[in-house]
Formats: sequence, structure tokens, C-alpha cells
Amino acid sequence: MKKEEKSDICIIGPGRLGLTLAYCFSSGIDRGINLVSVSGRREESVSNAERIIKKINRKTVFIVNNKEAARKADCILICVPDDSIKNVCKELFEKNGITGEGKTVIHFSGLKGLDVLDAAKSSGASVCCIHPMKSFADYLNSANSIKGTLFGITYDKKDKKACRTAERIVGFLNGKSIFIENSSKAIYHACACMASNYLIGLLNIVERMGKEIGVRPEIFMEGIISLSQGTIDNIRKLGTNNSLTGPIARGDVGTVRNHLENIKSRMGSNYADVYSLLGRFTADIARENKWIDMRTYNEFLDLFEIKKLL
Ligand SMILES: NC(=O)c1ccc[n+]([C@@H]2O[C@H](COP(=O)([O-])OP(=O)(O)OC[C@H]3O[C@@H](n4cnc5c(N)ncnc54)[C@H](OP(=O)(O)O)[C@@H]3O)[C@@H](O)[C@H]2O)c1
Repeated sequence: MKKEEKSDICIIGPGRLGLTLAYCFSSGIDRGINLVSVSGRREESVSNAERIIKKINRKTVFIVNNKEAARKADCILICVPDDSIKNVCKELFEKNGITGEGKTVIHFSGLKGLDVLDAAKSSGASVCCIHPMKSFADYLNSANSIKGTLFGITYDKKDKKACRTAERIVGFLNGKSIFIENSSKAIYHACACMASNYLIGLLNIVERMGKEIGVRPEIFMEGIISLSQGTIDNIRKLGTNNSLTGPIARGDVGTVRNHLENIKSRMGSNYADVYSLLGRFTADIARENKWIDMRTYNEFLDLFEIKKLL
């Protein structure tokens, strides 16, 4: 294997993501990924990682010293909370720090740009961000289900080494990659939060509405999850526009009026606002599809108290 195809990896921050990556990389030596070191802030987290990883890779060094750990590697993965990335990077490369020459430094934040790695770049390192569109809770489940994950990757397009390293790591994890401009990371990350966290917010609202009408939550939510799952399956096959069904797709203004009146009186205006705002975007889809005429569309907008036309 050529030197270019191998990476000696250091993981800083053996938390939810860092430990998952350490576990995935611990058996990677035959495929060019050599986990040389893991470093963390607290002895407890580092010992926990050591207990798990040493069973697979006896050569990895575990240490509560970021600089020492990073010195051993040519690829440094900073897996600490977003707000600490910049300081950890500075601590590595500034004031008696290590040199960045020949190294690639990577962070995994969906929001933060390349600038938080400026200290590494100034010291001669290649830098990039790799953001997994996946929720990492426990390392074993996350490692076992990481295949197929989409990774949003960001690098300076002039930095070919950063690009190659990012692609190699994503390839090793059997993931897919999509390039995200540095300036677009906030919107990209908002998309991920809306599709995952806000989906939970929405289904929690539905769960509360179920409680209001006194249905058994476990039976009700099983039905709701199955309904949502079916919709997700349809979106995968048909796309969002063609998956729309229900009263707005049919132009049933009376049904939507009835929903809104009942939601307002039994659940309150915050619930009605969520229904109306999402209803507005749903009406846009029905109109775009030409499934409802302009008059019906405007009737929906009046109900939702939104006058803006397409
Ligand atoms: N978890 C996810 O679902 C997910 C998904 C996509 C991207 N990410 C990204 O992954 C990164 C890590 O997130 P996470 O969820 O894995 O966080 P986490 O579970 O809180 O883990 C962070 C780890 O960093 C360590 N740490 C904190 N400050 C440190 C320092 N100065 N030096 C060394 N280690 C330090 C913590 O140490 P202690 O154990 O001592 O506290 C902990 O082990 C973030 O950039 C996040 O945006 C996470």
C-alpha cells in the first residue's frame, strides 16, 4: 500500500462520535486506516475508550494529552463539542505546538466552517470538515448502522490532499459524500436539524393532541409512526411533491377549516399556528402540482391567514 493511501489516525474527544469512529477504525489497518492514538479531556472517558478499543487493536495509545496524541498521527480528527473545536486546534498548533506540515486536521461539526481550523492551516496542515447526517447515541449501534450514511464534506477546492483524505475516510465507513460550500453550512445544518429534530417536535405535537382526545398513547403512536414511515417510504420512491395526499391535495377546504377550528379551541393558538404554517407550504405543493386551482389555493391561504400568492 502506497504511503498516500494510508492514514495514521488520532481521535481527540472519545465521546458519542469519537468513540464510534475509534471503534470503526480500530480494525482498519488492512484497509489503510491505522488508529494510532485516542486523547480526551477526562481520564474516565479515555479509559472507557481504551477498555473497548484495546480488545480489537492493542497498538493504539490512549492518553489525556491532545498534543502528544496528535504528534503520533498524520490525520487528526477533532471530535469535541462544536464550541471547543477552535480552542483544541489552537492548543495543538499554537505556542510550542506541533507542526501541521504533512498532517490533515478534520472536524465533524455540521455548522462550523473551516475557519475554526485556522491554527492548523497556518501551521501548514490540510483542513476539512466531514459531517455525518446521522445521530450518534451509543457507539455500537452507531458503528453497526453507519454504512450508507451521507457525509457533508467541506474543504478548500485547491487543497487536493484534504479532499482525498475526506473521501478516503467516508469510503472506509461505506458512506456517501456530498460537497457543501463553507458559506452554506448553516443552511445545510438547519436542513439536518429540521429533518431529524423538528420531525420529533412535530410528532410530539401529534402525541399531545392524541392525549387531549384521550386515546391510549402507545397504540396511537404506533399507528402514527407507521403512517409517517409509509410517507417516508413514498418520498424515497416518488419524491416530496408526488407523495402528497390528504385534504390539501384534494382541495377539501371545509375539512381543513374544521381541523383548524377544533385545534384552536381544544389545543390553543400555538398548535393552530404550526398547523397553518405547515399547511401553507403544503398548499404550495398542491398548487405547484396543479392539483388545486388558484381559487382553492387562495381559500387555503385565507384559512391559514396568509395572503401571499405564489
Ligand atoms: N453525536 C452526534 O449525533 C453527532 C452527529 C454529527 C456530528 N457530530 C459532531 O461531532 C462532534 C462531537 O460531538 P459528540 O456528540 O460526539 O459530543 P460528546 O458526546 O459530548 O463528546 C465530546 C467529547 O469531547 C471531549 N472533549 C471535550 N473537550 C475536550 C478537550 N478540550 N480535549 C479533549 N477532549 C475534549 C469530551 O470529553 P469528556 O468525555 O471528558 O466530557 C467528550 O469525550 C461535534 O462537532 C458534533 O457537532 C455529532
